[in-house]
Amino acid sequence: MIIKKLTLKNFRNYEDLSICFDSKLNSLCGQNAQGKTNLIEAIYFACLGKSFRSSKEKQIIKWGKDYSKISLIATNEIREKKVEVVLQTSQKKAVKMDGLPIRRIGDVLGEIPIVFFSPDELKLVKESPEERRRFINIDLSQTNKKYFYLLSRYEKVLDNRNKLLKTSKDLETLKETIEIWDKSLANIGFKIIKDRENFIKKIEPFAQKAHEYISGGEKLRLVYKKPDVDSEEEYLKKLSKLVEKDFKLGYTSFGPHRDDIDIFLNEEEVKSFGSQGQQRTVALSLKLAELEFIKEQKGEYPILILDDVFSELDKNRRTRLMKFTSRCQTFVTTTDQSLCEGKIIKIKEGKTETIS
Ligand SMILES: Nc1ncnc2c1ncn2[C@@H]1O[C@H](COP(=O)(O)OP(=O)(O)O)[C@@H](O)[C@H]1O
Ligand SMILES: [Mg+2]
Repeated sequence: MIIKKLTLKNFRNYEDLSICFDSKLNSLCGQNAQGKTNLIEAIYFACLGKSFRSSKEKQIIKWGKDYSKISLIATNEIREKKVEVVLQTSQKKAVKMDGLPIRRIGDVLGEIPIVFFSPDELKLVKESPEERRRFINIDLSQTNKKYFYLLSRYEKVLDNRNKLLKTSKDLETLKETIEIWDKSLANIGFKIIKDRENFIKKIEPFAQKAHEYISGGEKLRLVYKKPDVDSEEEYLKKLSKLVEKDFKLGYTSFGPHRDDIDIFLNEEEVKSFGSQGQQRTVALSLKLAELEFIKEQKGEYPILILDDVFSELDKNRRTRLMKFTSRCQTFVTTTDQSLCEGKIIKIKEGKTETIS
């Protein structure tokens, strides 16, 4: 897919914007705090139905205004997709796809797949397992709607089971009532584990290749720390075995909500032993692996967004990265105009000017 056109109304520091993009490389350049990341955020929002910024969605609305609107048109050889998002101070967000209202955000996911990378994504390698699960979830949800809905159901059932664990007075009554949740949890949880296991298997070679290419030879390895069960029945048994422990803890201690990926470089764990530069390249390689994974699953490349990554990479890595990205529509933001190629869009105080 390729984003052809973006129109913004009252989106952060943009009052009115209408801009067309190149089907290959788009460089957004400008000084700090001018609106580069805001523009990227608008694209991300239209494609994934939410922001990568943790702040409240309503804060997106331009200060002093009461609504904000994103319209985005994307195309490939066979179809055109139009997404429209409206945020209002007094109402819930409204998303439309091809003119029709979307009730569930899951219905937007994967229609215009994107891969987003910013220096903040270093947390994918460095921080808690939750970050790595988020990475898996975004990828699988964009390529497999069923996975997204499975995950939502899993979270609901898990929540119900945890509530029961917390509110039950004694173990005996708990054991009688918890079974219904355990059955559901084992059924859904095991499917999620299988999907994640397959996903890691599939992206590992892609990530290895990307990493070897960008770093110039280091060997990357990904290991899925899978919950230790090989069937739904085993899963169910495990849950019932753990019920006493979970009762004491007040939460469910087993399942894919606790799993993780271990990442190794030349057999050392990157999280603890990798340098900052190595961790950064690993995070980038995982993102580049997403490109290939999505291509394999959907038959076409997603859109790649690289926010502020140039300042953190040396020239060699930068050149190799740009070679790698020539295969899909790419958006790059930078403060350094000398690094800009392709269609160059200068951004100043929420206004754009196309230079070439
Ligand atoms: N809701 C909003 N209304 C108006 N301006 C906003 C809003 N949210 C953020 N901004 C402004 O956007 C600017 C930051 O833009 P950003 O795209 O993050 O900068 P950069 O070009 O460095 O990536 C800041 O000047 C900030 O004050
Ligand atoms: Mg920025």
